[in-house]
Amino acid sequence: MAPGTELADLAREAAGCDRCPLAAQRTQVVFGVGDPEADLMFVGEAPGRDEDLQGEPFVGRSGKLLDRLMQEELGVDRSRCYIANVVKCRPPDNRDPTPVEIAACRPYLEAQLQLVRPKVVVTLGNFSTRLLLETDLGITKVRGKAYPMGEWQLVPTYHPAAALRSGGVVVAEMRADLVRAKQLVGWG
Ligand code: URA
Repeated sequence: MAPGTELADLAREAAGCDRCPLAAQRTQVVFGVGDPEADLMFVGEAPGRDEDLQGEPFVGRSGKLLDRLMQEELGVDRSRCYIANVVKCRPPDNRDPTPVEIAACRPYLEAQLQLVRPKVVVTLGNFSTRLLLETDLGITKVRGKAYPMGEWQLVPTYHPAAALRSGGVVVAEMRADLVRAKQLVGWG
Protein backbone atom coordinates (compact mmCIF):
# COMPACT_ATOMS: atom_id res chain seq x y z
CA MET A 1 0.00 0.00 0.00
CA ALA A 2 1.27 3.53 -0.77
CA PRO A 3 2.48 5.55 2.25
CA GLY A 4 -0.15 8.20 1.51
CA THR A 5 -2.98 5.67 1.78
CA GLU A 6 -1.61 4.16 4.97
CA LEU A 7 -1.09 7.61 6.51
CA ALA A 8 -4.64 8.57 5.60
CA ASP A 9 -5.95 5.36 7.20
CA LEU A 10 -3.93 6.04 10.33
CA ALA A 11 -5.15 9.64 10.46
CA ARG A 12 -8.75 8.39 10.28
CA GLU A 13 -8.06 5.98 13.13
CA ALA A 14 -6.37 8.72 15.18
CA ALA A 15 -9.33 11.07 14.65
CA GLY A 16 -11.29 9.01 17.19
CA CYS A 17 -8.37 8.41 19.56
CA ASP A 18 -9.08 8.37 23.29
CA ARG A 19 -5.77 6.99 24.53
CA CYS A 20 -5.16 9.96 26.86
CA PRO A 21 -7.08 12.69 28.67
CA LEU A 22 -6.39 15.28 25.95
CA ALA A 23 -9.16 13.62 23.91
CA ALA A 24 -11.79 15.21 26.15
CA GLN A 25 -10.71 18.80 25.45
CA ARG A 26 -9.61 18.91 21.84
CA THR A 27 -11.60 20.33 18.95
CA GLN A 28 -9.95 17.80 16.66
CA VAL A 29 -6.87 15.61 16.33
CA VAL A 30 -4.03 17.38 14.50
CA PHE A 31 -2.40 14.39 12.90
CA GLY A 32 0.12 15.74 10.37
CA VAL A 33 0.37 17.38 6.98
CA GLY A 34 2.46 17.37 3.83
CA ASP A 35 4.08 15.00 1.37
CA PRO A 36 3.60 11.39 2.58
CA GLU A 37 6.91 10.53 0.88
CA ALA A 38 8.83 13.63 1.97
CA ASP A 39 12.60 13.47 2.36
CA LEU A 40 12.39 16.05 5.13
CA MET A 41 10.12 15.83 8.15
CA PHE A 42 9.60 18.36 10.94
CA VAL A 43 8.44 17.30 14.39
CA GLY A 44 7.08 19.92 16.80
CA GLU A 45 5.62 19.65 20.28
CA ALA A 46 1.82 19.83 20.34
CA PRO A 47 -0.95 21.75 18.59
CA GLY A 48 -1.83 25.19 19.90
CA ARG A 49 -5.15 27.01 19.63
CA ASP A 50 -4.93 27.77 15.91
CA GLU A 51 -3.88 24.22 15.08
CA ASP A 52 -6.67 22.75 17.22
CA LEU A 53 -9.20 24.87 15.33
CA GLN A 54 -7.80 24.31 11.83
CA GLY A 55 -6.64 20.70 12.18
CA GLU A 56 -3.18 21.35 10.74
CA PRO A 57 0.21 21.63 12.51
CA PHE A 58 2.02 24.93 12.67
CA VAL A 59 -0.58 27.30 11.23
CA GLY A 60 -0.31 29.98 13.96
CA ARG A 61 2.50 32.48 14.64
CA SER A 62 5.16 29.78 15.10
CA GLY A 63 4.05 28.19 11.85
CA LYS A 64 4.33 31.46 9.94
CA LEU A 65 7.95 31.76 11.06
CA LEU A 66 8.61 28.11 10.19
CA ASP A 67 7.12 28.62 6.72
CA ARG A 68 9.29 31.70 6.18
CA LEU A 69 12.50 30.00 7.29
CA MET A 70 11.65 26.94 5.17
CA GLN A 71 11.22 29.14 2.12
CA GLU A 72 14.30 31.28 2.78
CA GLU A 73 16.74 28.56 3.81
CA LEU A 74 15.43 25.45 2.02
CA GLY A 75 13.73 27.09 -0.95
CA VAL A 76 10.62 24.94 -0.50
CA ASP A 77 7.18 25.32 1.00
CA ARG A 78 5.52 22.99 3.48
CA SER A 79 3.96 20.82 0.76
CA ARG A 80 7.43 19.39 0.03
CA CYS A 81 7.91 18.32 3.67
CA TYR A 82 5.92 16.33 6.20
CA ILE A 83 5.04 18.09 9.48
CA ALA A 84 3.82 16.44 12.67
CA ASN A 85 3.91 16.90 16.43
CA VAL A 86 4.89 14.68 19.36
CA VAL A 87 1.37 15.03 20.74
CA LYS A 88 -1.56 15.23 18.32
CA CYS A 89 -4.09 16.98 20.56
CA ARG A 90 -3.90 20.42 22.14
CA PRO A 91 -2.93 20.51 25.81
CA PRO A 92 -5.28 22.92 27.62
CA ASP A 93 -3.94 26.48 27.90
CA ASN A 94 -0.92 25.36 25.86
CA ARG A 95 0.66 23.70 28.86
CA ASP A 96 3.51 21.24 28.30
CA PRO A 97 2.42 17.73 27.31
CA THR A 98 2.80 15.24 30.18
CA PRO A 99 4.89 12.04 30.01
CA VAL A 100 1.63 10.03 29.98
CA GLU A 101 0.30 11.99 26.97
CA ILE A 102 3.62 11.71 25.14
CA ALA A 103 3.78 7.95 25.72
CA ALA A 104 0.16 7.47 24.61
CA CYS A 105 0.75 9.38 21.38
CA ARG A 106 4.17 7.98 20.58
CA PRO A 107 2.97 5.07 18.40
CA TYR A 108 1.42 7.57 15.96
CA LEU A 109 4.72 9.41 15.54
CA GLU A 110 6.63 6.14 15.19
CA ALA A 111 4.19 5.05 12.49
CA GLN A 112 4.50 8.38 10.69
CA LEU A 113 8.28 8.00 10.65
CA GLN A 114 8.03 4.45 9.33
CA LEU A 115 5.56 5.35 6.58
CA VAL A 116 7.10 8.62 5.40
CA ARG A 117 10.65 7.27 5.71
CA PRO A 118 12.30 10.71 5.59
CA LYS A 119 16.04 11.12 5.06
CA VAL A 120 16.18 13.87 7.64
CA VAL A 121 14.02 14.77 10.63
CA VAL A 122 14.27 18.28 12.06
CA THR A 123 13.11 18.26 15.67
CA LEU A 124 11.72 21.60 16.81
CA GLY A 125 12.44 22.24 20.47
CA ASN A 126 13.00 20.14 23.55
CA PHE A 127 10.06 17.76 23.46
CA SER A 128 10.59 16.21 20.04
CA THR A 129 14.38 16.32 20.41
CA ARG A 130 14.39 14.56 23.78
CA LEU A 131 11.89 11.94 22.62
CA LEU A 132 13.55 11.02 19.32
CA LEU A 133 17.16 11.46 20.41
CA GLU A 134 16.46 9.69 23.71
CA THR A 135 18.27 12.31 25.73
CA ASP A 136 17.58 14.46 28.77
CA LEU A 137 19.75 17.26 27.43
CA GLY A 138 18.22 20.54 26.34
CA ILE A 139 18.14 21.84 22.79
CA THR A 140 20.95 24.37 23.27
CA LYS A 141 23.29 21.52 24.26
CA VAL A 142 22.51 19.20 21.37
CA ARG A 143 21.81 21.47 18.39
CA GLY A 144 24.50 22.38 15.88
CA LYS A 145 25.04 18.94 14.41
CA ALA A 146 23.27 15.97 12.87
CA TYR A 147 22.72 12.62 14.57
CA PRO A 148 22.59 9.40 12.52
CA MET A 149 19.53 7.38 13.57
CA GLY A 150 19.90 4.38 11.29
CA GLU A 151 17.76 5.02 8.21
CA TRP A 152 17.56 8.76 8.81
CA GLN A 153 19.41 11.67 10.39
CA LEU A 154 18.14 13.88 13.14
CA VAL A 155 18.85 17.62 13.07
CA PRO A 156 17.74 19.25 16.30
CA THR A 157 16.83 22.92 16.33
CA TYR A 158 14.91 25.44 18.40
CA HIS A 159 11.16 25.57 18.50
CA PRO A 160 9.99 28.53 16.39
CA ALA A 161 8.15 29.89 19.46
CA ALA A 162 11.56 30.22 21.16
CA ALA A 163 12.87 32.00 18.09
CA LEU A 164 9.89 34.38 18.20
CA ARG A 165 10.59 35.10 21.88
CA SER A 166 14.35 35.45 21.61
CA GLY A 167 14.93 36.65 18.01
CA GLY A 168 18.48 37.41 16.79
CA VAL A 169 20.91 34.65 17.63
CA VAL A 170 18.26 31.94 17.99
CA VAL A 171 16.81 32.69 14.55
CA ALA A 172 20.31 32.72 13.07
CA GLU A 173 21.07 29.34 14.64
CA MET A 174 17.77 27.94 13.39
CA ARG A 175 18.69 29.10 9.90
CA ALA A 176 22.05 27.34 10.18
CA ASP A 177 20.34 24.14 11.33
CA LEU A 178 17.97 24.26 8.36
CA VAL A 179 20.91 24.69 5.99
CA ARG A 180 22.48 21.59 7.59
CA ALA A 181 19.22 19.68 7.02
CA LYS A 182 19.04 20.88 3.42
CA GLN A 183 22.52 19.60 2.68
CA LEU A 184 21.80 16.23 4.26
CA VAL A 185 18.58 15.86 2.27
CA GLY A 186 20.52 16.62 -0.90
CA TRP A 187 18.68 19.84 -1.72
CA GLY A 188 21.76 21.98 -1.20
N1 URA B 1 3.72 24.44 18.26
C1 URA B 1 3.96 23.14 18.00
O1 URA B 1 4.84 22.53 18.58
N2 URA B 1 3.22 22.54 17.09
C2 URA B 1 2.26 23.15 16.40
O2 URA B 1 1.63 22.52 15.56
C3 URA B 1 2.02 24.51 16.67
C4 URA B 1 2.76 25.13 17.61
